[in-house]
Amino acid sequence: MPLVDKEYHIAIFASGNGSNAEKIIAYFQDHPSIHVSLILSNKPDAYVLKRAEEHIINCALFTKSQMEKDLGVSDVLASNNIDFIILAGFLLLIPPYLISNYPNRILNIHPSLLPKHGGKGMYGKHVHKSVKESGETKTGMTIHFVNEHYDQGTIIKQYSTSIAPEEDAEDIAAKVSILEHRHYPEVIEEVIELYDFSKNF
Ligand code: GRF
Repeated sequence: MPLVDKEYHIAIFASGNGSNAEKIIAYFQDHPSIHVSLILSNKPDAYVLKRAEEHIINCALFTKSQMEKDLGVSDVLASNNIDFIILAGFLLLIPPYLISNYPNRILNIHPSLLPKHGGKGMYGKHVHKSVKESGETKTGMTIHFVNEHYDQGTIIKQYSTSIAPEEDAEDIAAKVSILEHRHYPEVIEEVIELYDFSKNF
């Protein structure tokens, strides 16, 4: 008996490599009720699109302007029956129409302990450089709901790791990446299960 009552379809939005997308795809590969049904990107050369092709998952590509004006985005989400949007290294701001169409159903992962080292321009190595330069002794990752501001939605979960004085930004990135790969898929599952459960009341 599946843990959730209905079938849920998720779309992963990603602009780059897609190592988190890969872990999410693997985690839900044989899941009885949660399926990765779409990969959406704004970068034609994003490696995540190759990963989607290998796993035979539908892909959609939109420019920044098409995203902002909803030139086809809502349509492609509807035609793939998307219930949840999972951001995994997606660099564009999520437009208001998506936030109102998917209330508390858009999740993001950020490679620091928000609210520290978040906001516009804080992505990839910029985050880890900022952590190092601030002399932090710990860092981590944050999974949060998405609102109309970069990295400011309600925090769902955070996981931390220590930083030794000799570790540089690259070492920090590698440690955070391990945390992301280990925990993001299971937190996505928990959020969907909780959502399904709350709908029964
Ligand atoms: C991750 O560090 C994630 O926290 C951030 O973007 C990065 C994506 O990495 N939002 P990848 O493309 O999944 O390898």
